[in-house]
Amino acid sequence: MTRKSFLWLGLWLCCLTAGVKAQQLERISPGQEWPDNKGEHINAHGGGLLFDEGKYYWYGENRPARGFTTEVGVEVYSSTDLMNWTDEGVALAVSEEAGSPIERGCIMERPKVVRNPKTGKYVMLFHLELKGQGYAAARVGFAESDSPTGPFRFIRSLRPNAGVWPADFSRKDIREAKALKEEDYKEWWTPTWREAVTKGLLLARDVPGGQMSRDMTVFVDDDGKAYHIYSAEENLTLNLAELTDDYLDYTGKYVRIAPGGQNEAPTIFKRDGTYWLITSGCTGWAPNEARMFKAESLWGPWEQLPSPFVGKDADKSFHTQGTYIFKVEGTDDGYVFMADRWNPRSLKNSRHVWLPLEFKADGTPVLRWVDSWSPREQFD
Ligand code: GAL
Repeated sequence: MTRKSFLWLGLWLCCLTAGVKAQQLERISPGQEWPDNKGEHINAHGGGLLFDEGKYYWYGENRPARGFTTEVGVEVYSSTDLMNWTDEGVALAVSEEAGSPIERGCIMERPKVVRNPKTGKYVMLFHLELKGQGYAAARVGFAESDSPTGPFRFIRSLRPNAGVWPADFSRKDIREAKALKEEDYKEWWTPTWREAVTKGLLLARDVPGGQMSRDMTVFVDDDGKAYHIYSAEENLTLNLAELTDDYLDYTGKYVRIAPGGQNEAPTIFKRDGTYWLITSGCTGWAPNEARMFKAESLWGPWEQLPSPFVGKDADKSFHTQGTYIFKVEGTDDGYVFMADRWNPRSLKNSRHVWLPLEFKADGTPVLRWVDSWSPREQFD
């Protein structure tokens, strides 16, 4: 080959790969690789979505190809059509400083970003585990930014609601919970242990230092009030806690949802005045059957319903675990369920499964598998 034809071949190959990378996606294909603007599978797991000034932002865990710790941080992508995503880089980076709560090698999971209407700031809450401690720390991290793409500034991490009892606990309930001692219930999963958990065995243990906070989401209601929903009490009980007006702290008002019910991966939305909560069971990276709850008020009561998944592999939630539910801008009724199909051998390569929610006549959500779909066709 002459030098000239070699150069032409090189140029042609470059154009070809650029063409492949720039190819526009016309559909969402749940469970398939999802290439970003550079042709790389979107590395934003356990994610959440924000719509802001005409654009969607997808925040999620930037995961390594091997291993379970956070080496980079929270990644953010932007899109105008929900299918084609531009990598905007690292929104919240791990710290290189030894001893920092977000030191490289910590674990950052399930980041959710909301814009605070009063301060105009973008606020990120995420599940934080401290370096070298496995999942023992069970904390929530707060970070803030002036721009949706960051850089987010880490503010602090904590366990929520230290020194505070749930809003629906009477003085008598508190007295009874305080009297429960862990050493009297060494054997888990027995009926008496379950009753003790429901009455506040672990809740009471954690009141002084704050409740454990692992899998989580953030929900902003129509009135602008925001709520942090997280797995507390060794992942046995969900808490729903009201955030302060700047979204950076807790008001101290919180309730427990399904005490002892072992719910993780909370996702929530409101439709026609009803709140719907879709969760998973607790089996780590392995999929399990989702659960669903509904309520007329965030403070409960929450009624448990069957899983919204129907069809083949519904008992394994189509091999996924939920992470967020959002409403498509400009639609009357376009809700999307975002989930992860975890690959613990290579978390980076875990697949994203986004499915449109369907609704029964009485409003009950249904999740049905589709190989591919288009937001435009689905919701028009
Ligand atoms: C899952 C949880 C994930 C991650 C994982 C670790 O149950 O939903 O976010 O924490 O466990 O094993």
